[in-house]
Amino acid sequence: MTTTKPLLGAPTARLEAREKVTGTARYATDYPTDRTAYAWPVPATVVRGEITAIDATAALADPAVLAVLSHQNAPRLRETDDPFVTVLQSPRINHRGQYVALAVATSLEAARAAAEAIRVTYRCEPHDVVLTPDHPGLYKPDEVGVGMPADREHGDFDTTYANARVRIDVVYETPALHNHPMEPHSATALWDGDELTVYDSNQDSSGVQQALARLFGLAADKVHVVNEHVGGGFGSKGSARAPVVLAAMAARTVRRPVKLALPRNQLAATIGYRAPTIQRIRVGADAEGHIHALAHELVTQTATVGEFVEFAAVPTRTMYHAPHSRTTHRVTRLDVPAPSWMRAPGECPGMFALESAMDELALACGLDPVELRLRNEPTVEPDTGLPYSSRHLVECLREGARRFGWHDRDARIATSREGRFLIGSGVAASTYPAFVMPSHAEAHAAADGGYEVRVSASDIGTGARTVLAQIAAEALGVPLDSVRVRVGSSDLPPASVAGGSSGTASWGWPVHKACTELRRRLAECGHAVPEQGITVAADIAEELDDREDFARHAFGAQFAEVQVDPVTGETRVRRLLGVFAAGRILNPRTARSQFIGGMTMGLGMALLEGSTMDREFGDYAERDLASYHVPACADVPEIDVHWIDEEDPHLNPMGSKGIGEIGIVGTAAAIANAVHHATGVRLRALPIHPDALL
Ligand code: MOS
Repeated sequence: MTTTKPLLGAPTARLEAREKVTGTARYATDYPTDRTAYAWPVPATVVRGEITAIDATAALADPAVLAVLSHQNAPRLRETDDPFVTVLQSPRINHRGQYVALAVATSLEAARAAAEAIRVTYRCEPHDVVLTPDHPGLYKPDEVGVGMPADREHGDFDTTYANARVRIDVVYETPALHNHPMEPHSATALWDGDELTVYDSNQDSSGVQQALARLFGLAADKVHVVNEHVGGGFGSKGSARAPVVLAAMAARTVRRPVKLALPRNQLAATIGYRAPTIQRIRVGADAEGHIHALAHELVTQTATVGEFVEFAAVPTRTMYHAPHSRTTHRVTRLDVPAPSWMRAPGECPGMFALESAMDELALACGLDPVELRLRNEPTVEPDTGLPYSSRHLVECLREGARRFGWHDRDARIATSREGRFLIGSGVAASTYPAFVMPSHAEAHAAADGGYEVRVSASDIGTGARTVLAQIAAEALGVPLDSVRVRVGSSDLPPASVAGGSSGTASWGWPVHKACTELRRRLAECGHAVPEQGITVAADIAEELDDREDFARHAFGAQFAEVQVDPVTGETRVRRLLGVFAAGRILNPRTARSQFIGGMTMGLGMALLEGSTMDREFGDYAERDLASYHVPACADVPEIDVHWIDEEDPHLNPMGSKGIGEIGIVGTAAAIANAVHHATGVRLRALPIHPDALL
C-alpha cells in the first residue's frame, strides 16, 4: 500500500496530542519509582566569597530527612569548567543563588523544610554585578560561538563613515531576559549498581548522557537519559543543568530514586538567561539610502566561571550590503549567574538594534523603511562572500507589505489617531541560520509490516516526533500510521540538541537516509521481511563534511501595528504579521505554532520582559511569573503568519530550514519602530514601559 497525498507539507496533528491533553504523557518527575526520595536545593544568600560553615543539625533532626549534601560530603565530580553542572564541589561562591547544599528526604515537604533549616555561614567579598558600557573588565573573547570570531572588519569603516552623507550613531540596550519554560527544570535519578538512569527535562538526551558520564566517570552506555516529553526550554535545557546532577548525586548517596523539581523562584539564578547588551550602531549612507559603512559594536556580560557571549553583532554580518563594516563583541566577567542560550541567542537582541537603526536611517533619508531594505539587499553574503543557498527577504518584505496594507498607511510620524489612541506601524527584517548537526538514526521494518524509526531526538513541545514520522513515512512510501517514531532517550541512536533551530534538519536527514535505504532493500527482497525484521542505520557525517559552499539562512519580515495611550503611556499591539522564507515548510500546523510562539515571545521582549539587577543584593529581582511578565492571552492580538514557498536544493533532502527561532527575531524592532511611528518617541532600550512614553 502506498500513499498518494504527500506527507511532507501536510498539517498533521501532533502524534502525542491525546497523551498530552489526557495527562498521560510523562514528564521528568512523573515516572513512578519505589522508595522515592525528594531533594530540595539551597541557594547561596551572598554574592561572592566562601562558605565557612554549614550547620545541618536542625535539618537532620527530622527523621524524614535522609541526607544533607554540601561541598563537604557530596560525591566528587570529574572536573569541568561548565558552571551549570559544577555543583557542591567547592566552598567558593561565584554568584548569589548558586547552590550550596541539598536536602534529601522521604517527602517533598520534609525536603523543603530541611532546606530552610540548613544554616550556612559565609565570608563575603565585595561584588560587581552591573554591566556598564565602559566596564574596566571588558575584553575581546577568542570567539563568540563555535567558529564565530569576536570581531570582523571589512574595508575602511572609519574613513567611509566619516565621509558619509547620512550618518546614524546610536546605542541600543536590551535587558537580561530569563527563560521560563512551563515545566521548570526537573529530574528523577536512579542508580542500579554503577548504572545511572535519569528522567530529565532537557533538549538533548545524548548530550546530557555524555555530560553525566564525564562527571561521574562512567562509560556512556552506563548512563540512560530519558526525555520523552519536555515542557519547553527555549535554550535553557540545551545542555545538562544542576537538577539532573544533584538528583544523581543524591540518589547515589541515599541509595534510593530521587526526584528534584526546581521551584520557579530558583530558575533565574541557575539555569541561564539572555545576558543584557549595550549595542552601538553606526551607519553611513548616501542620500539615496545606500549603506556604505556599517558598524555594530556590542558590550555584554558573562559570569566569572565559564564564558558565554551573546553574539548579537553576528547577524549584521549577513543582513545588508555594506562594503565597509565592523562588528565587534566585548564581554566582562561579573559576579552574576552564568548566561546562556535563550531563543535566538545573538540574532534576537542583535536584530532589535540593527532593525531599529534601519528605521532611523530610513527616516534620515526620507525613505520608506521597506524600500530602504530593498536598496541594501546584498548579492552575496557580505561577511563571507559566499552565495546564499537561497534568500528571499525581498519577497518576504513585499508580500508582507501587501498583506499588511503597509503602503496604505499615513507615513507621517505621530499623526494617526483613533479616539485618544495614537496609532503606528513598523517593519523589521528577521534572519536565523540554517544549522545542521551530526546525528544518527535507524529505520526498522518489522515482519508484520510495521515500521519503527529510532533517533535520540528531543521533542520539547514543537512537534518534532510528528514531523519525523512524516519524513519517515514519505521516504518509505507508506502511510503515516504504519510508522512508529521512537525519540526521547539516549539509548536510541545518538542525535543532536533540540536547539539552534536545527532539530528537524539534523534528525530528519539521517531518518530520511535510513528510510530511503530501507525502502530500497525492501524492494530488493520483494518485501519478504525476515522474522527479526530489517534494520538500517544512517548518519550524515559525510554529507556534513563539505558545507562551506553556501551561506544558509532563513529570512523573514515582521510587521506590527500598535496603539499608544497618551494618557497612560500604555502600548498595545493591535496586529502582528510575519512572513518567512524558511525553505520547505514540512508541517504547516506545527510550523505556524512555532512562528506564532516566537513572535509572541518577541512581543514580550518589546513590551513586558526584563530582569532587573539589584546592585546591593547582586541578584535579579524578578523571581516568578508575577514579576517577570510574559505576554498573557489578553496581550496577544491575532498573529498572522505566512511563508514564501522557497525551494532550496542545498539544505537537506527535505529542503527545510529551521523555524524554531526566527519568529522571535525582528518582532521587538517592528514593535519599537511602530511605537516611534505612533508617537515620535524613539525608544532604544527595552522593554518599552509606559513611563518611557510619558
Ligand atoms: Mo534554542 S536557544 O537554540 O534552544
